[in-house]
This record gives sequence, structure tokens and C-alpha cells, in this order.
Amino acid sequence: MHRYHTLGKIPRKRHIAFRDDNGKIYHEELKGNKGFDGPSSLIYHIYRPTAVVGTKLIREVKLEEDPDRSLRMRHFFTSKLNKGGSPVLDRTPIMFNNDVTLWMAFPTKEDEFYYRNAQGDEIIYVSDGEGVLETAFGEILYSQGDYLIIPRGIMHRYRFTKGEQHFFITEGKGETRTPSRYRNDYGQLIERSPYSERDFRVPENLITIDKQEPTSVMVKQRDQLTEVMLDHHPFDVVGWDGYYYPYAFSIHDFEPIVGRVHEPPPVHQTFQGDNFVVCSFCPRPYDFGEDSIPAPYNHSNVMSDEVIYYAKSEFMSRKGVEYGSITLHPDGITHGPHPGKYEASIGMKETNELAVMVDTFYPLLVAKAALDIEDPNYSKSWLEGNFDNTLGE
Ligand SMILES: [Fe+2]
Repeated sequence: MHRYHTLGKIPRKRHIAFRDDNGKIYHEELKGNKGFDGPSSLIYHIYRPTAVVGTKLIREVKLEEDPDRSLRMRHFFTSKLNKGGSPVLDRTPIMFNNDVTLWMAFPTKEDEFYYRNAQGDEIIYVSDGEGVLETAFGEILYSQGDYLIIPRGIMHRYRFTKGEQHFFITEGKGETRTPSRYRNDYGQLIERSPYSERDFRVPENLITIDKQEPTSVMVKQRDQLTEVMLDHHPFDVVGWDGYYYPYAFSIHDFEPIVGRVHEPPPVHQTFQGDNFVVCSFCPRPYDFGEDSIPAPYNHSNVMSDEVIYYAKSEFMSRKGVEYGSITLHPDGITHGPHPGKYEASIGMKETNELAVMVDTFYPLLVAKAALDIEDPNYSKSWLEGNFDNTLGE
């Protein structure tokens, strides 16, 4: 996160003896990425964060690809996936490459263990549901439309408070950040960016748990899940400060940029990862110039594969998609609005669409697990006349 935050109590200087009322030294921990040069926070624990009772390999996380690698447009109905289970252990992979994995999860069961992804940052798009993200840095309340950004290494757990939980998850190996073009030399978001610091929700309500009893932490590293048993509760933090912590941003706080004629997709960019971007398509007034066509023009992806998660059934350029649909438009094939969509968009004043787009700079593979929910007719759905027959519209 690009701004300093602190909760609880911290010493006047870093790396000095910081003691409780009985004179016992708190255990300082630096958590961050990129060695000692990336964003980091200093955390003060009651117990040694290194006190591990034992570790146990739970399982490997193997991503199996669709053996049919032929280049084509793809469409998946995630609403047909089996629901239930854990928000961490029961995710279904949809697509992946070396930089990013896209998952869906419909958890119904809260985990007893805490989870730490040590090999990637996670962006949880909360498509439905309400709850609390519990972390050692404090709590973040979440609801429909939130992106929860959980940098690698940060231990957390979900508590569900209301409704079905629908998560579209982007797990990236690089650091998730706001695009550098939205920030000035000081890291502050500039006036032209589609959001400001006030739109980002940081952890609050630091709860310090002083309990010396074995506590399970599920760690993802080396493409496997390992249970690490600590001899104490990991939320033993009395205070912390820095730039490295989880945060939330609601898609409903993204301020759309519109123009007299169609604006290109980068105006929707919300986050940047290594070799991928995340964009938000939000309700907005349409382009207002004379004869302007609000629907996008056809385009060949510029060195990227395009994935769209439809967070509402409405989308200005597509037919046949529903809430929860995911489409893949790969580099190498031109894509654009479905027949009739740009004609129909002329003169329209606004859209209520809501969608999350992930563009990856290297090709994506489709996961085998997604084949059962695939729409087999999608690749031909731009043919005039054929469309109505194949998708029933
Ligand atoms: Fe596109």
C-alpha cells in the first residue's frame, strides 16, 4: 500500500528494546517483499514469531491444463461450479500462467486455521457476501464489490457475516499495486487517478490475542500447502507500522472516466501486477459525442490475453453471458462486440454493467477443472444468424 499506517503501540524508534509492563521485550518482526527494499511493516509480537512446533505437508497444489490448447474464444459459467467448503482449500482454478492464477470460490465453511500465501499476492473480488477479513494487522469489513488486497506472507482468515460468499480470486506472483501513472513522485495518488486515498480501507480494530497454545497456520509455498503449527496464537501483535498490510477497495468507489467518444480499456485500470493488470467496468454515463458509438470497437489484443469476470449479467458488448460468467479472448484472434451490440448502443445514455477484467501479458492456459462449465458455442457466437441458434437469444 502506498501510504503509511499504524495501529496499536510501537516504540519511539525501530530496533530498540520495547518492553511490556513487566519488562519483557516484545519480539520485533519485519514483514515485506523484495528483501529489505520493498514495502514493509514492523510488527511487535508478544511471542516469538519463529516458535514453530512442527510442520506437515498437507497437499500439493497442482494446476492441470486443458489438453486442447487450440486458440479460441472461451466462456465459462462459474455459477455451475460446486458450492461449499473452505475459502482457502476449496478453490477451483479457471486459468493460469507463470504470473497469475484465476480461481473461483463459493465457501460456506469458515476455516479454523489461519492462511498465509507465501508465494503470491491475492486479490479477492467479493462478488457476493459480507464478512470480516481477520489479520494480525487488524480487521477489514468486506461486502459485495470489494477487492481485498492481501500481500504475500500476511496471515489471515475469513469470517462470514451475511449472504452467500462468491469470490473471484486473482493470485499473482508479483506485487499488487496501484498503477504508477496514477501516482506522483511522492507516492500520492494524483488528481487524475480514478480513486483517491480516501477510497482505500485499511485495517482497523487491532485485536491482540495473548494465548500460548498450538495454533495452525496453512502456508502456501512451492505450490504446496504446509500446515505450520506455532506454539502460540499468531494474532499476538500489540502494534505495527509501515506500508505493508492488507487493504480493501470497493469497485463502487472507482470513478469511471468517460469521453465524447469511446475511451480505451486502460481508463478502467484499477491495479497492476507483474505481467498483468486488473480493470473495473462500472456503471457510468455513455460517451456523449454526436454519432459516438458507446460499445467498444473491435480490437486485436495488444500482446495480452483478456479475461472478463461478469459481476452482473449486463455487459454492453456481449450477449449470452450471465452473472458469474468468465470469458477468455486470447491474443491472436480479433475480438469485439457481439452482432447488433454497437448498433444498439448508439444513443444510449448509460450502462449499469459491472465486471472485472484481468489482462495478462503472456498466454493463459485453461484449467481442466473449468471444462465441465464451458459454453462450447461461444467461439462462433459472433457469426450473424448463427448466434441466435447457438445461444438461444
Ligand atoms: Fe478487449
